[in-house]
Amino acid sequence: MHSIMPVFGTRPEAIKMAPVINALEDSPLFRCIVTVTGQHRAMLDQVNELFGIVPDHDLNILQQGQSLSGILTRTVDGLEALFAHTRPDVVLVQGDTTTSTAAAVAAFYHGIPVVHVEAGLRSGNPLSPFPEEANRKITGQIASLHLAPTRASKANLLAEGVNAADIVVTGNTVIDALLAIVGKELPFSDPELERVAATGRKVLLVTTHRRENQGDAMRGVGRALARIADAEPDLVIVLPAHKNPVVREAVLPALAGRPNVLVTEPLAYGEFTRLLSLAHLVLTDSGGVQEEAPSLGKPVLVMRDNTERPEAVDAGTVTLIGTDEDRIVTEVDRLLNDREHYDSMATAVNPYGDGSAAARTVAAISELLGVGSRLGEFTS
Ligand code: UD1
Ligand code: UDP
Repeated sequence: MHSIMPVFGTRPEAIKMAPVINALEDSPLFRCIVTVTGQHRAMLDQVNELFGIVPDHDLNILQQGQSLSGILTRTVDGLEALFAHTRPDVVLVQGDTTTSTAAAVAAFYHGIPVVHVEAGLRSGNPLSPFPEEANRKITGQIASLHLAPTRASKANLLAEGVNAADIVVTGNTVIDALLAIVGKELPFSDPELERVAATGRKVLLVTTHRRENQGDAMRGVGRALARIADAEPDLVIVLPAHKNPVVREAVLPALAGRPNVLVTEPLAYGEFTRLLSLAHLVLTDSGGVQEEAPSLGKPVLVMRDNTERPEAVDAGTVTLIGTDEDRIVTEVDRLLNDREHYDSMATAVNPYGDGSAAARTVAAISELLGVGSRLGEFTS
């Protein structure tokens, strides 16, 4: 039996790794050594709990106001100590966080093959998203197997000289997670949210956390939301606030005292996907939310100037609007008040996955280890 060590540390990695871990644990071929860095804490633990994942090792690295170098060094040091007595056959990392790149580097230094889930996303700008664009490129340099979610991400890897035989297009595992959870209609733990759901009022769902948007841009987002709330009293703006105090200090002051703005703690994934499915539209700078909302037919305004996820932009359900305060107000107003425009964006599309990404991932790993063969690739 081969041992596979998934290493992850943040909320989106946990969500996207969960279907893979569940599939590995169901396979008689593999033993899974689940390792979390704890780059996030509450936001990580609530995902593991939902998917029934109990980590075997927890590096517990989170510090308030942590630096990128601190995340990197504490992860490498923690894995170094772990690899001294636990040597997996493969280390599995997901995406582009500093946890994932640090884990890939630590494994590479120990001669352990790295498998990269969600490989090949590229914005083309090393400063946006920062540091994620550089993180995923570094991991791409040292991975033995690249699991690209889409054909476009495979093309990015080929253009960088990655061997075609080392790439498999799997679809994104976030769609596996979404499909497993969204139908469950889990209750909201915040009674205010249950009231919002019961009234049937239009919901604008907002999330923001990107490092390059912190500061002035995020303060502008707060002011834009306040203007929208005042102009649209029948609308409810729901903002599950990221745990990062830097984000909260920038966005929340402008929203204080507005009766149609509901700020919540980070929602458990089941609650968030329920909110996503009842929302009228979504305003976000999140990567994962950009991938999930299109499959539920929700128009998404992305508060970034570029994206490494062009598929839903091409399909017409996502628009990149940047972070300019006036532009945010104008674009939300247009979606709320121009029915034709809304309908043109509210088409359910699934460019990111079909729910079988985890099965393709496990099959590709079995081929890498010589105990199986890959499945047919995802085509959107
Ligand atoms: C990280 C990832 C980013 C990913 C995001 C998902 C890096 C460099 N960044 O950014 O790619 O999109 O996660 O949310 O890897 N905090 C808590 N508890 C938590 C989580 C965060 O208190 O459960 C606070 C801490 O004060 C921490 C701060 O949030 O210092 C920032 O967390 P960090 O992981 O450094 O950055 P994110 O912006 O969350
Ligand atoms: N999410 C969640 N609860 C929330 C906000 C988001 O479960 O309160 C989920 C969301 O469905 C998506 C993921 O978290 O799958 C996105 O995480 P985040 O925006 O923090 O990171 P990114 O995807 O930008 O790296």
